[in-house]
Amino acid sequence: MDAILIKGSTEPLRGTVRISGAKNAALPILCATLLSDGASRLRNVPKLRDIDTTAALLRFLGRNVVVDAPEITVDPGSCSRPEAPYELVKQMRASVLVLGPLVARYGRAKVSLPGGCAIGARPIDQHLKGLEAMGCTIHLDRGYVFAEGPDGGGRLRGAEVVFDMPTVTGTENIMMAAALARGRSTIVNCAREPEIEELGRILNKMGAVVDGAGTDVIHIEGASELAPFDHAIIPDRIEAGTYMVAAAMIEGSDVLIEGAELHDLEALVAKLRMANVNVTSEGRNVRVGRTGPLKPVNITTGPHPGFPTDMQAQLMVLMCLARGESVISETIFENRFMHVPELQRMGADIVLRGHVAVVNGVDELYGASVMATDLRASASLVVAGIAAREETEVRRVYHIDRGYERIEEKFKGMGVNIERVVGAHS
Ligand code: EPU
Repeated sequence: MDAILIKGSTEPLRGTVRISGAKNAALPILCATLLSDGASRLRNVPKLRDIDTTAALLRFLGRNVVVDAPEITVDPGSCSRPEAPYELVKQMRASVLVLGPLVARYGRAKVSLPGGCAIGARPIDQHLKGLEAMGCTIHLDRGYVFAEGPDGGGRLRGAEVVFDMPTVTGTENIMMAAALARGRSTIVNCAREPEIEELGRILNKMGAVVDGAGTDVIHIEGASELAPFDHAIIPDRIEAGTYMVAAAMIEGSDVLIEGAELHDLEALVAKLRMANVNVTSEGRNVRVGRTGPLKPVNITTGPHPGFPTDMQAQLMVLMCLARGESVISETIFENRFMHVPELQRMGADIVLRGHVAVVNGVDELYGASVMATDLRASASLVVAGIAAREETEVRRVYHIDRGYERIEEKFKGMGVNIERVVGAHS
């Protein structure tokens, strides 16, 4: 297994970093190709392990997928079994995003339940409830969801679906199902992430009529057939946010982040500014730096446009160096503090009380061997290593490779002393 080695420094970060396409936009859009019988082309797709897993799943489903980064084409091929096996779903829980498209397109689907994951239980009851409202019969057997369209595999019916809580992949699954359903669907209490707006754009390009994506109520008029599409994926706001935090770690830093949409990062930017970080928009780029000491800020994660849970670990790392106490509350996932014990080993002063972490800033962090079993937690440890004294080794880098394209090269471009050690551990 690879490791990442970072030699921490007090040297300010300088330079430019270009943001890749958004992982969490590309995953549902790749699954949306299942809704059409034509060849679709996605551009600006990040080169990541989760994208490879999705490509493998589409191939298993009979699609001809050609990956020529940053482009992917998906040709229809023929689907002999609308089925997502455990072997693929267990590698990436977003594989559940094929459920809506498969049952809408083929009248039936067999998809492995994703199971729990490192950050929490993450049930999919809302996805299933939505499909049932559209006339699906659902039964669970030996770890699989079996879904069948009305009257033994017929076309789904448009329906009103009211979610108990905003769910990102749940909203996406039901949007894709509704795009091929007969009649109009109304989805209430939707997640409002920019990635959902992006999926709405795709479904409109394909011929469904989607209105309200990005708000909490989405209306969709289904089409009997959907066309293929050609689309460039939006930039990854969480990758951008991660580099913004990194650029704030060391006083005197000044980094230009290319392709970051400030509009999609408002909650993070507000907190960074309160923490004494300079964030300025320069066209489609963002300049981030810091000239004075870090001030502590409190954060509570929430559904978009609230503070993203996917940025909680990184912001906590920043608060480890602030002058004073910050209170960080995680409200989305019950187990998303795996970075805390690792940061404590690096000298951070953090007290955990259930879903709340109280961070007291320290003067400096120390390098250590660390690891985490969650993508964002792992990335936060790299960010911590940048400003830590001496060397930090981040193990289990495959988690980072799920969601950050060429992270070590991008940090090198900002002057960080970082390298990947291939096969460092068995
Ligand atoms: N929930 C349910 N039932 C459901 C669905 C969700 O109880 O049927 C709960 C979850 O347990 C959680 C909350 O609702 O407490 C929100 O979960 P959501 O469904 O929105 O999460 P997700 O769709 O599984 C996506 C991202 C995550 C991101 C979360 C929250 C993708 C592929 N994944 O997950 O991204 O953290 O939304 O914003 O879009 C990551 O990229 O590292 C990552 C984990």
